[in-house]
Amino acid sequence: MKLMQEAQVALAGGRAVDVRFLRAERGDDALASALVDIDLQSFVEATVPRAVAEIVLHHGMVHLLEVDGAIVGSVLSLRDWERPDEGVIASVGLLPGWRGRGLGPRLLTWLLEALAAEGLSAVTLHVGSNNRRALQLYEDAGFTRLRHSPPDPVSGERSLVLRRALH
Ligand SMILES: CC(C)(COP(=O)(O)OP(=O)(O)OC[C@H]1O[C@@H](n2cnc3c(N)ncnc32)[C@H](O)[C@@H]1OP(=O)(O)O)[C@@H](O)C(=O)NCCC(=O)NCCS
Repeated sequence: MKLMQEAQVALAGGRAVDVRFLRAERGDDALASALVDIDLQSFVEATVPRAVAEIVLHHGMVHLLEVDGAIVGSVLSLRDWERPDEGVIASVGLLPGWRGRGLGPRLLTWLLEALAAEGLSAVTLHVGSNNRRALQLYEDAGFTRLRHSPPDPVSGERSLVLRRALH
């Protein structure tokens, strides 16, 4: 894994920890289990099955957040097929015990810097319209609402498509 950023962070309501932002090496299949695990602990239904995790590890971009040496969060990113100078954030997740402590904004800031450094001009993502914490996180970081996606056939929940320029 490639070290991209590191900092000592005073967690909200807690101690200071060493936080590292890492980029997975291409094809590091050993990380697939961690990606599946974070996803299973993040959403009502699995959005990153193992096969998808392996595909993104080989063909997309995977970033990880480590606290005191343990992986606590991940981001899966892709390149837009129609607009190859734009990125798509496919999945963002922190393990439950690490949410609400200031790590989400830190992870997103470092991610946006990394995607801009790759030369991407903008980034898009989908977020459940009921996911108020994630929506707040993204809008605080400068994402704006583009459109709604169609309602989920089971839950009826719609996703919002958000976008942010990267220069
Ligand atoms: C989404 C996620 C990455 C956010 O990281 P986090 O460190 O928990 O985020 P924070 O606690 O800093 O919360 C982000 C913002 O939402 C606000 N917030 C928290 N709970 C909220 C709620 N129920 N309603 C509205 N806003 C809320 C926080 O106050 C904060 O805003 P502020 O900085 O302006 O005060 C993390 O919670 C997570 O992994 N969740 C599960 C997976 C997920 O939903 N991923 C995103 C899918 S697109």
